[in-house]
Amino acid sequence: MSTTATEAGMQAFALSGKVALVTGAGRGIGAQIARRLAAAGAGVMATDIDGPSAEETAAAIAQAGGTAQSAAQDVTDEAAWEAIIAQTVSQLGGLDVLVNNAGIESMSFVADTSLDTFRRIMAVNVEGVFLGVKHAVRAMRPGGAAGRGGSIINLSSVAGLVGSPGLSAYCASKGAVRLLTKATAVECGALQLGIRVNSVHPGVVRTDMGASVVSGMARLGLVPDAEAAEGLVQTMHPIGMSEPDDVAQAVLFLASEASRRTTGAELLVDGGMAAQ
Ligand SMILES: NC(=O)c1ccc[n+]([C@@H]2O[C@H](COP(=O)([O-])OP(=O)(O)OC[C@H]3O[C@@H](n4cnc5c(N)ncnc54)[C@H](O)[C@@H]3O)[C@@H](O)[C@H]2O)c1
Repeated sequence: MSTTATEAGMQAFALSGKVALVTGAGRGIGAQIARRLAAAGAGVMATDIDGPSAEETAAAIAQAGGTAQSAAQDVTDEAAWEAIIAQTVSQLGGLDVLVNNAGIESMSFVADTSLDTFRRIMAVNVEGVFLGVKHAVRAMRPGGAAGRGGSIINLSSVAGLVGSPGLSAYCASKGAVRLLTKATAVECGALQLGIRVNSVHPGVVRTDMGASVVSGMARLGLVPDAEAAEGLVQTMHPIGMSEPDDVAQAVLFLASEASRRTTGAELLVDGGMAAQ
């Protein structure tokens, strides 16, 4: 391939001059997404309910020569969304990419799941994403505070496509994220807002949450012990489990112009899990 073609190919993935807001960016997948988008040239606002952890992510980005700020943000709080988006636009110069990454999981059989637990999972995983989409669309659309269109990426899961024992509330929440994404994508298209909306569906990823799902399988008696759980999870991923950066690379694609004709899509990063 000629140098020019290589450069043009890489250019499509560049985020120079763009501004991205990443929720749940204090650790795991969100922290890696923030680092990956910053490495591609975006100014990044890293937020997390655990403010100091988001601060660490922003500091690591700055240390590596990137541009980042951080803020404490609970994604279930609508007023906080309005404030963070206003802060992002004023301090980083716009809003082109929103990654709704913050999420929680709790494993129990449906007959043992309290309404409080179900509601908490729906509040963070669904209401949090809804609020992010709502306020990002307001800011990104023509005439909005940022006003130059953009790309919204919602973290769903393979658990948003197929059921899994012990994960009924989580599956319900991630399935809702999948269709919230598609409905918003076609609406933004119909209204010609210049905003794309896509969902990303990882399998089990090596993070605190991923470890909790693996140990939860043994705790609920779905497999005899932790070793068997690890073995089962391995066989569930024909080409192997993902690391956070595998998910971050998919998010970079959806954030960039390389995916400019992709909207309402569900991008699997699951090592082949859902294809079985
Ligand atoms: N790890 C996996 O196996 C896996 C698989 C599929 C999808 N996902 C999804 O990817 C996303 C990230 O997962 P992860 O594995 O990095 O999880 P994680 O638990 O390691 O990290 C989640 C982050 O979100 C933050 N957070 C939690 N509640 C919040 C709230 N109310 N407001 C703001 N921030 C909040 C936490 O403080 C934490 O920093 C989640 O949406 C998750 O459902 C994860």
